[in-house]
Amino acid sequence: MSAAIPYIPENAPFTAEQRAWLNGLLAGMFSNAPQAAVEAKPSRRVAVLYASQSGTAEGLARKLAKELKTQGHTPALSTLVGYTPAALAAESCALILASTYGEGDAPDGVQPFYEELCAAHFPYMEKLSFAVLALGDKHYEHFCKFGRDLDAKLAALGANRLADCVACDVEVDEPFAQWKAAMIERLNDDSPPPSRKAQPAQGESSAALTAQSAAHQDGAAKAFTRDDPLMASVIDKRPLTNLKSTKTTLHLALSIEGTGLRYEVGDACGVIPTNDLNLVAEIVQKLRCNGNERVAGVKTGTTTLHDALAHERQITRLNRKVVQGYAARGHCAPLLDLLRPEHQASLDAYVYDRGLIDLLVEYPGTIDDANELVSLLPKLSPRLYSISSSPAAHAGQIHATVAVVRYMAHSRDRGGVCSTFFADRTSIADRLPIYIQPNKKFKLPANPDAPMIMIGPGTGIAPFRGFLHERRALGHKGKNWLFFGERSAATDYLYREELETMRSDGHLTRLDTAFSRDNSQKVYVQDRMMEQAPLLWSWLRDGASVYVCGDASRMAKDVNRTLCQIAQEQGAMPAEAAEEYVDALKDQHRYHRDVY
Ligand SMILES: Cc1cc2nc3c(=O)[nH]c(=O)nc-3n(C[C@H](O)[C@H](O)[C@H](O)COP(=O)(O)OP(=O)(O)OC[C@H]3O[C@@H](n4cnc5c(N)ncnc54)[C@H](O)[C@@H]3O)c2cc1C
Ligand SMILES: NC(=O)c1ccc[n+]([C@@H]2O[C@H](COP(=O)([O-])OP(=O)(O)OC[C@H]3O[C@@H](n4cnc5c(N)ncnc54)[C@H](OP(=O)(O)O)[C@@H]3O)[C@@H](O)[C@H]2O)c1
Ligand SMILES: Cc1cc2nc3c(=O)[nH]c(=O)nc-3n(C[C@H](O)[C@H](O)[C@H](O)COP(=O)(O)O)c2cc1C
Repeated sequence: MSAAIPYIPENAPFTAEQRAWLNGLLAGMFSNAPQAAVEAKPSRRVAVLYASQSGTAEGLARKLAKELKTQGHTPALSTLVGYTPAALAAESCALILASTYGEGDAPDGVQPFYEELCAAHFPYMEKLSFAVLALGDKHYEHFCKFGRDLDAKLAALGANRLADCVACDVEVDEPFAQWKAAMIERLNDDSPPPSRKAQPAQGESSAALTAQSAAHQDGAAKAFTRDDPLMASVIDKRPLTNLKSTKTTLHLALSIEGTGLRYEVGDACGVIPTNDLNLVAEIVQKLRCNGNERVAGVKTGTTTLHDALAHERQITRLNRKVVQGYAARGHCAPLLDLLRPEHQASLDAYVYDRGLIDLLVEYPGTIDDANELVSLLPKLSPRLYSISSSPAAHAGQIHATVAVVRYMAHSRDRGGVCSTFFADRTSIADRLPIYIQPNKKFKLPANPDAPMIMIGPGTGIAPFRGFLHERRALGHKGKNWLFFGERSAATDYLYREELETMRSDGHLTRLDTAFSRDNSQKVYVQDRMMEQAPLLWSWLRDGASVYVCGDASRMAKDVNRTLCQIAQEQGAMPAEAAEEYVDALKDQHRYHRDVY
């Protein structure tokens, strides 16, 4: 018979965490039962820090802190906004979740922390153990750069890596779960007994809280978020392209009158879309369900199959994980074969233009459990749209300029979730869930007299429409030059009337257009820039700021190359010096990009 296990009473002078740790320790010492040793796992104070702009890293940090607490550790959760390297150096263990923005930069408000960390005089951090989970998006040139830079900097300052930096693409759930499990295993294996730091003094925790609340305070405006969006009424929806065009681009206006939602020109609007309900019905039918089956919900415990497919899950795109889960659960031999590493190229081709419905049609009966199927699917993420209105000129409204994504693949008409939600499933007076995604790096020049060069083909025009209206409404006198490009002048000249009026009344000093499909030879905005190279160079010499918005995959890179070429030719400098000149424009906050 084993001895009774002593315990620390609730009124003993210890915090709840200390008591839990000591009780675990006593249980381990006085019991022969193997699980007592498990309960005796030590407790550590762990700083859980996040650098987040739209809330993903913050949400994951909160989950991590919750899990650490469940495991008996003492998490101290804080944003890096308002946090100091000195506070970090005082920690023994920090788990950091950091997303990347702009040109591979820190999220808004985190740069002061990073700059101070990089200051040459900062002391070594050899007492700190740390790990970084970097969040990003592979579509961007500087994938996860801020998280990686932070990881490298901490290591260079002598801190000990608990694990190598993990860089996550947009599908964060799985890498986060793996990283979290590895971190907890590491902490549980390798923890010192609670030290002074396991007893956070009131001052310490309130400092962390102050940093957090500072991040959330944004004037008196209510902070609508992706989890708590504003339901905004649609007050205008019209095509900006002609019916004869080969594409559709829409102008949308939403009312935000009296809601407290604030934005600035250059910010983006986040929209939480609904999937195509015909496609949802087809999936439900292929599963031989009726849609009312209870399945795990993303936000609530359970929901119906219909609602999960309509509002919570990404059903139009596939990735390796979804195919893997589908194939493995149903032992689907052809799909399992496709998943073999040597067939990666075939898998890429398979998932490129297929969605969930294709799996259900091509390999029916592989999964018939609705809950199993839903749990395989990634979460449906909000979509961002650069705001094309100006708070000064369009009071109480928010405008967006949306290119509708439609294509045909494998005998099926397909569409982008959110752009077809606007085009096909949104009417005037409907209320849409939205929030603001601030972009502090894409703002008008601070000097109202500074010249501005804007390069925005296609929907890249959106923020520049906002900029131009704002500058006019605020009486800014700086010169404005816009390069706009689209397929054809007759059918795709977005906001033609407004832009031509601004040019004729002089608000737009120059308007250069490039209609790519109007001639046998393609003409793009960068060709117009080259044609105007001497003038463009003189604007730059006069202190003009350059802004680029639109397609990231090709246009933004080509425009960047063209800027370098103009600097090289007009400034009579070698290629390397021209690149340095363009980099210097970025450093001087005179070259900004909002590309996607
Ligand atoms: C900061 C920011 C600002 C933005 N501003 C704007 C803006 O002002 N206006 C705007 O229109 N968009 C803007 N976007 C893009 C926007 O967020 C959406 O990505 C876009 O509307 C597509 O979303 P969707 O839900 O309609 O399509 P999704 O459901 O996301 O589908 C798009 C995907 O479909 C696939 N696809 C598309 N065409 C094909 C094809 N032919 N063959 C095979 N697969 C294909 C591709 O995988 C593509 O990524 C912005 C993005 C960001 C990040
Ligand atoms: N999947 C689709 O069906 C689809 C359709 C449209 C847009 N998109 C994507 O949606 C986003 C927004 O599209 P959008 O409507 O704003 O228009 P967009 O596709 O960016 O096109 C706008 C204009 O830019 C031109 N362009 C193409 N390549 C360029 C380059 N390298 N440099 C400069 N200009 C270039 C286009 O010409 P050409 O098109 O004549 O080459 C067109 O005249 C982009 O990221 C785009 O990739 C997808
Ligand atoms: C305007 C904008 C710029 C971005 N720039 C980058 C980038 O340069 N590199 C990158 O890897 N990811 C980039 N991303 C992707 C974000 O880092 C990614 O979506 C991340 O999950 C966001 O995390 P958060 O919600 O915590 O801010 C960008 C996203 C947006 C909206």
